Amino acid sequence: MCGIAGYLGPRNAVETVFEQLKLLEYRGYDSAGIAFLQDGDIRILKRAGKLTELGKAVAEEMPEARLAIAHSRWATHGGPTDENAHPHYDQFQQVAIIHNGIIENYLELKERLAAEGHSFRSETDTEGAAHVIGREYEEGVPLEEAVRRAAGKLRGAYAFVVISKREPDKIVATRNASPLIVGLGEGEQFLASDIPALLPFTRRVVVVKEGEVAVLRREGVSLLDSAGKPAPIEPMEVQWDVAAAERGGYEHFMIKEIHEQPDVIRQCLLGRIDEAGRIRFENIFSDYVWTEIDRINIVACGTAYHAGLMGKHLFERLLRLPTDVFHSSEFRYGDPVLSEKSLAIFISQSGETADSLAALKLCQQRRIRTLGIVNVVGSSIARECDRTILTQAGPEISVASTKAYTAQVVVLSLLAFYLAQVREAPGVRVPEGVDELKRLSDMARAALALEEQVEPLSEKVAASPLVFFIGRAADAHVALEGALKLKEVAYIPTQESPAGEMKHGPLALVESGVVAIVGATDSKVRDKTVSNMMEIKARGGTLIALTTEDDETTCQVADHVLRLPKSRFDFFSALLSVIPMQLLAYHVARRRGCEIDQPRNLAKSVTVE
Ligand code: AGP
Repeated sequence: MCGIAGYLGPRNAVETVFEQLKLLEYRGYDSAGIAFLQDGDIRILKRAGKLTELGKAVAEEMPEARLAIAHSRWATHGGPTDENAHPHYDQFQQVAIIHNGIIENYLELKERLAAEGHSFRSETDTEGAAHVIGREYEEGVPLEEAVRRAAGKLRGAYAFVVISKREPDKIVATRNASPLIVGLGEGEQFLASDIPALLPFTRRVVVVKEGEVAVLRREGVSLLDSAGKPAPIEPMEVQWDVAAAERGGYEHFMIKEIHEQPDVIRQCLLGRIDEAGRIRFENIFSDYVWTEIDRINIVACGTAYHAGLMGKHLFERLLRLPTDVFHSSEFRYGDPVLSEKSLAIFISQSGETADSLAALKLCQQRRIRTLGIVNVVGSSIARECDRTILTQAGPEISVASTKAYTAQVVVLSLLAFYLAQVREAPGVRVPEGVDELKRLSDMARAALALEEQVEPLSEKVAASPLVFFIGRAADAHVALEGALKLKEVAYIPTQESPAGEMKHGPLALVESGVVAIVGATDSKVRDKTVSNMMEIKARGGTLIALTTEDDETTCQVADHVLRLPKSRFDFFSALLSVIPMQLLAYHVARRRGCEIDQPRNLAKSVTVE
């Protein structure tokens, strides 16, 4: 969630890293700062608040420098103040560092250093790390060696970047769990926690591996392994185009990303269905392994968890393969029962979610096979899992996940039909499933066309003190995601539950003026859902139903009906219903004047547990 930027080369380094920070704003932050080398000294400018505050300080001073590092911080240890903002100096102001993640043993380190006479200016764990590095550096070793030695004394998940006034020609960085990417240029080098911050400058990147120390000089970059030995550099070319990381004419990233979904679905299927209509994945487990798997555990957070529930629905209904879905934050501490032949699937847009990474480590310790379903190429989860399927959704900038959800469910659907193909699952109509997947992009376009009807409904929803999201079967899972969207971007309280659960408690909350969004796409359970709708209507609730175009029942009860394309698999119609729900959340948030792309208190990439 914090952002890292770094530059050395002929450009004005302060301006360059400031530009990079702007590109990382979507990660969420509450203070920001820059350190740069000027006249043989390290100078730091840092401010609590948004980047405009730091921008004012930069504009006042107009500093010129050829080397700078910058950081946007999301407060964990110590509030969002000027003092706690990064960068931080060591005891003697020889070095300055910026840091993402958490140093778990910082109190112990700070106490030890305080006993030796060190004094600290902030409440942060980062300043403790700065002092540890500074202390190693006093030994007269090169900066990279001081960083490597200090890293051995730090516990936790971190990525940090260090500059020194004694060695004004280099930037040194290392990481353990938190992401760090070097951008390669000609006579200039860049550094960032995330690829979008590099795209305007370079497409050639090197993902720093865990424990490696990167040394950036104008003329080139070198890597050291955790033992201090040279490590190979493996540059890769980023394919995302710059426009894909920008708003492309839309008012917000969220609405742009909602509208990208038909293309995302197509991209997601790209190269995965051959001419004969068979599903194939590159670099995935052998057929033998797929046949052997006796249980699936899906582990994820937030929206990705909701996608996981859709996966469970498919794996169990199509394949009769027992599947559990866990919140990553619970998985690790729940002492899960994991069978030898099970497969753990980690779903993550960012691939950096700390809770999911921790759960992944547990599976690795228990020697359970792991599969990542990840959007960000080169991210930690993508690299750490035994096998990874990329969702190929392109960068998702809005904190509220939309297109990533659809892509995750499409990958899970592909995987379910792939498993049916490999395991020759009885009764599963794989060719029909493949056909529906191919039609899904056009069906998503039709779902987007509902925006004209959704926008006026947003007035009613914005006025509702509580909004219900209900459904049965797959509609119940999509209801959870619809509710999360409304909560996070429009700050409206929601009550989400399977439709049949309403009478077991939540119904007590229904009164005149409340709105209920009802997923009724599944024709097999529609009659039951209609009964639940009547229970709400009888108590004064307003009903907005999401159903398929052929449904003649729901419209007799609902106050408003949004009709989605009918798929031969009810599951896909349910998936499509997330689109009007996303649109509704967006338009309600817009009507209420919310900060849509960066909702309060939330961050895009949650890299702390
Ligand atoms: C949803 O809109 C949120 N952004 C959040 O729930 C998110 O899905 C969750 O934090 C998981 O993130 P990940 O997919 O990057 O692991």
